[in-house]
Amino acid sequence: MPSFQPLPGFVDLLPEDAARMRHLEETARTLFERCGYREIRPPLVEDAALFERTSGATSDIVQKQMFSIPSRDDAGAFVLRPEGTPGVFRAYLEAGYAKTNPFQKFFYLGPMFRYERPQKGRQRQFHQIGIEAIGSPDPHLDAEIVYLGYRFYEAVGLRQVTVLLNSIGCAACRPAYLQTLRNALTASLDTLCALCRDRFGRNVLRILDCKNAPCTQAVAQAPRIADSLCDDCRSHDRAFRIALKAGLPISEAPRLVRGLDYYTRTVFEYHHPGLGARSAVGAGGRYDGLGERLGGSAIPAVGFAIGVEATLLALEAEGKLPEPGGAGGIFVVYVDRDCRTDAYRLTEGLRNAGVTADLDHMGRSLKSQMKAADARGAHEIWILGPDEISAGTVKIKRLSDGSEKTLPVVEAISHASRAPADAPR
Ligand code: HAM
Repeated sequence: MPSFQPLPGFVDLLPEDAARMRHLEETARTLFERCGYREIRPPLVEDAALFERTSGATSDIVQKQMFSIPSRDDAGAFVLRPEGTPGVFRAYLEAGYAKTNPFQKFFYLGPMFRYERPQKGRQRQFHQIGIEAIGSPDPHLDAEIVYLGYRFYEAVGLRQVTVLLNSIGCAACRPAYLQTLRNALTASLDTLCALCRDRFGRNVLRILDCKNAPCTQAVAQAPRIADSLCDDCRSHDRAFRIALKAGLPISEAPRLVRGLDYYTRTVFEYHHPGLGARSAVGAGGRYDGLGERLGGSAIPAVGFAIGVEATLLALEAEGKLPEPGGAGGIFVVYVDRDCRTDAYRLTEGLRNAGVTADLDHMGRSLKSQMKAADARGAHEIWILGPDEISAGTVKIKRLSDGSEKTLPVVEAISHASRAPADAPR
């Protein structure tokens, strides 16, 4: 027999894992909708050129991490989306919002795909929960979004998240800084790691972000991008910081530049000490140039993406991983096999009345059925034997206190349907 396992970097999310993930997604949904964000679901497959133009042809994502899908009809190169931002922006343009209703606040949840070396916290299929607010240059929006991300981590129970902040300028002021940076790094070019020597020519900004010792040493002496902002970027940054909620655990990160090319002005990352070297549980920033990169007009935008797996690892590190609850509800058990059909009908009757209910499908003994009910976290066990069936009754055992009572079936179902489906009765 061949053994079929998931491919490296792909993970089976079993019901326990899915329940934990759903808990994060539901928390995000509630929080984001409260702030006026609406869910959007762009496709998982897009044209590769979308990411080359936006995430950046020289970014790691585009150079090394895209999963491409051969197209059967010469329709170009397709890829599984490595991130959500370009697809959401494309959908915004496609829907005509730029003309009809230019300010839109979106959120999205779902899988992303990056061809990375699988390791703890890094998968090839992983999940993000993201926000994109498109159409406004307002620095208060940057503040709203940075705070909203932090509120999410707080709401799921994390207490050790810090926010790293920087501003990386715009198309007006960045080119001069890039030249200053090149000049400053020229003398130490030979000491840089191979990747950064390559970046020197094609994407010098990313050298600021390198974690290799010779590169961090070379960069330590280099001028900071925040010191070469133009007046507009400087006043945007000032207004953003004034608006930002007081008391956030902020850490200034003058070397933070992010690995995607579309960012302008505000960039930020959320970090957690429980994650080791790659400690970002989420990240984002402003990207006012994306519309132009896609061949349209300048449309200001800002957003972030939360790494779901990273957030779960952080929760685990803080000992706060949500414990998936049992199914709750009612478990119907039959005293002997002849009562199975009546037990099945009773279960369907409960379900049709809006009550969470289940029964054994393995032909188990009464004792094993009782154990199964307990293991599933049922609140009540409804017992059907020949005596109950001939009397039209059911024996109800409440698991919280072990109390028992016998009721006519019709009355029992009607009573169960009036109480909230999963509430302990
Ligand atoms: P990003 O920094 O590439 O940003 O990803 C955001 C988060 O996704 C990371 O902080 C990390 O927690 C998680 N993540 C990334 N790659 C993996 C992986 N291979 N396995 C597990 N988790 C991973 C973006 O994706 C931007 N689109 C964020 C954004 C939205 N900027 C503006 N709007």
